[in-house]
Amino acid sequence: MAHIAVLGAGYVGLTTAACFSHLGHTVVCGDVLADRVDQLSRGEVPIREAGLEELVRTGLDGGHLSFVVGEQAAAAECEFCYLCVPTPQAPDGSADLSFIRQAASAVGSMLPPESVVVNKSTVPVGSTRVVEQALGRDDVKVASNPEFLREGSAVHDFLHPDRIVIGCEDQATAGRVAALFEGIQAPVIVTDPASAETIKYASNAFLATKVSFVNAIANVCEAVGADVREVVLGMGYDRRIGFEFLKPGPGWGGSCFPKDTRALIRIAEDAGYDFDLLKGVVAVNDAQFEKVVTKVEALAGGSVAEQVIAVWGLTFKARTDDLRGSPSLEIISRLQARGARIRAYDPAVTDAVDGLEVAADPYAACEGASVLLVLTEWDEFRWLDFEKVGGLMAERRMVDARNLLDPAAVRRRGFAYDAIGRS
Ligand code: UDX
Repeated sequence: MAHIAVLGAGYVGLTTAACFSHLGHTVVCGDVLADRVDQLSRGEVPIREAGLEELVRTGLDGGHLSFVVGEQAAAAECEFCYLCVPTPQAPDGSADLSFIRQAASAVGSMLPPESVVVNKSTVPVGSTRVVEQALGRDDVKVASNPEFLREGSAVHDFLHPDRIVIGCEDQATAGRVAALFEGIQAPVIVTDPASAETIKYASNAFLATKVSFVNAIANVCEAVGADVREVVLGMGYDRRIGFEFLKPGPGWGGSCFPKDTRALIRIAEDAGYDFDLLKGVVAVNDAQFEKVVTKVEALAGGSVAEQVIAVWGLTFKARTDDLRGSPSLEIISRLQARGARIRAYDPAVTDAVDGLEVAADPYAACEGASVLLVLTEWDEFRWLDFEKVGGLMAERRMVDARNLLDPAAVRRRGFAYDAIGRS
């Protein structure tokens, strides 16, 4: 069992730290935010992530897991130092590596001899060199171990991954990193750092492509009178295609797809390749936001100005409380720009959201609304009393941008109903 430092206690770092401690390693997780460290040290997890709080508490109780302020305090005695710091989007679309550089240089002088620095943050090809330079150590090897964790099921994805990717020039070091995952049943792909870094971007870009593709097919379905749900059913049984990531919706978002697709476009451009296909994927996504706005306008009789629009769902997908890169917020701001008054409800959002009236329950959001817009696929929205919803609204009109509800049932209650790709 190893001593692991995890730098960064965000979604990725916290999941990594908790799961490694669950696997039996001794983990010290460092973050620069003292408040977050205090909270975590008490066993309180500030994010909604299935199973995470349980693992954090078990780790704390068993003494395998601790939280400290600062990178250096975390890395003092480690054999492996995981970098799980943010790589936000820089203004030019590239990934901003300043947190990576800062974390690596903070620990460079004090990492124990022969320790290994493992980068889990999503970084452009060649960043292993950046880490090596920031560390300034010949005896410390650097490896890349990208994460493929979906928010909401990150713990499950960590412990039951489809694959483990390790990018390292040095086979012995790659073997040491692979040994950390002992007990997990998954193929381990050991490769060079550039390939490992590319695998991460290519995977997210491909998944975003699938979603944009199905959203584009949904538009074709509307135009030709087909039903996208039937089309996906017929496509998905083809094992080369599959059913995953073919749910049409309001467009993809979140903390990864938007920045990773743009970063890959930029990486390709810098390397002399014009990634037109991926630019198209991003453009289709942007058009999808607008498509939803147009649907609301059409149901509202041509304009949303001065009208109350009820919105169900603010998070970028269900089973998370994360609002980062949420299509919902983008669509809301476009509706507001056209004069709409938004009243929103989300089961995972209780705090105030800038510029938004957030209702206490889904019914309250509908009071006096001229259109109800469903933007996140929370299961609980399926089981509400639509007679009551309709009674509260000024008009019975609904745009279901997740194809969540049964059109016939909603129409039976007198709603004008529109969805995605179902004419
Ligand atoms: C993603 C990747 O899945 C994960 O491997 C990576 O490490 C981080 O980025 P996450 O951001 O949690 O995970 O979201 P994901 O579940 O992949 O969904 C991304 C977006 O696509 C969401 O906005 C979601 O609503 C949308 N989506 C997904 C669809 O619209 N339709 C689908 O069929 C699937």
